[in-house]
Amino acid sequence: MLLDPPVLFFAGKGGVGKTTCAALAALACARAGERTLLVSTDPAHNLGDLFGPGVGGVAREVVARLEVLEIDPATETRRYLEEVKANMRRLVSSNLLEEAERQVDLAGRAPGAEESALLERMVAVLLDERQHYQRVIFDTAPTGHTLRLLTMPSLMGAWVDGLLRRRGALREARAGWMGGAEVPDDPVFELLHRRRLRLEQTRALLADSTVTGIVFVLVPEALPVAETRRGIDELADHGLTAAGLVVNRVMPEATSDPFYAERKRRERDYLARIDTMFAELSRLQLPLLAGDVDSVSALEQLLPVFIEGAAEAADQASAR
Ligand SMILES: Nc1ncnc2c1ncn2[C@@H]1O[C@H](COP(=O)(O)OP(=O)(O)OP(=O)(O)O)[C@@H](O)[C@H]1O
Ligand SMILES: [Mg+2]
Repeated sequence: MLLDPPVLFFAGKGGVGKTTCAALAALACARAGERTLLVSTDPAHNLGDLFGPGVGGVAREVVARLEVLEIDPATETRRYLEEVKANMRRLVSSNLLEEAERQVDLAGRAPGAEESALLERMVAVLLDERQHYQRVIFDTAPTGHTLRLLTMPSLMGAWVDGLLRRRGALREARAGWMGGAEVPDDPVFELLHRRRLRLEQTRALLADSTVTGIVFVLVPEALPVAETRRGIDELADHGLTAAGLVVNRVMPEATSDPFYAERKRRERDYLARIDTMFAELSRLQLPLLAGDVDSVSALEQLLPVFIEGAAEAADQASAR
């Protein structure tokens, strides 16, 4: 059901209303008495625009029981590299340390470094920081970036497996050379193993629909509909299922203006298409407001419709 899982991700095409919906869900949960964390994984953050200054890389309470956090890729990359260096200081002999640290700094500038650091922080939120909250809601970047983030735990897991196998073989070979003498513990193996475990826990958590709900937000237009279909199918390829849809910015019914009447006619077609194409998913509609949704008071206007829609979607789902 749409808003049941304690961890929610709001995903979808650029500009469709992911931040708006994640913020609505977070407000709804906090109002219902749950300690809630709203986290943005989008490098182009918007939560500060909604909840005001002071929102950033450290969780901060903005409304009673609602804390907001914007994960900053650059900060997380620095933090991640410091951690790698700290580990290395334990593992690398001092004459090699300077060169090893230089290599780590270089790797920090390589493509993919920020992505890994962001994943690392998402894993920390899910496995460690989540204990402090009853609800964790992710506002994500547009589809491609988010699909990558959600599928990375299994992709990286397979990669770490390969490293572990090689390291294990090395250890066995060493045992052979040492002719039965006790082989010292391998700290690199231990580190990789710990990383493997955390990635596997995250993968399992994301795949468990009682823990994680991935909600797609879309607007009733051709491209968002197509992108949502592809997104849901790609998740399925990785063993992840979508929990439901929010169809945002639905126009009001009555309009005599021929321009808006034509737009509304098209919209009806897309709404019907969404109903057939995503029949298996819970769906919630949000109206197009006359103004922007750029503050908590603007969110308040949509909140009752959102809460009622989520309850109806839940009823639909239990009727199915
Ligand atoms: N129901 C609505 N009625 C009117 N305006 C809306 C509605 N929902 C969202 N908006 C407006 O649409 C714009 C995009 O919304 P939002 O930032 O939530 O989308 P997003 O999917 O998070 O975008 P991005 O991909 O850039 O992160 C914002 O200016 C917001 O105020
Ligand atoms: Mg956004």
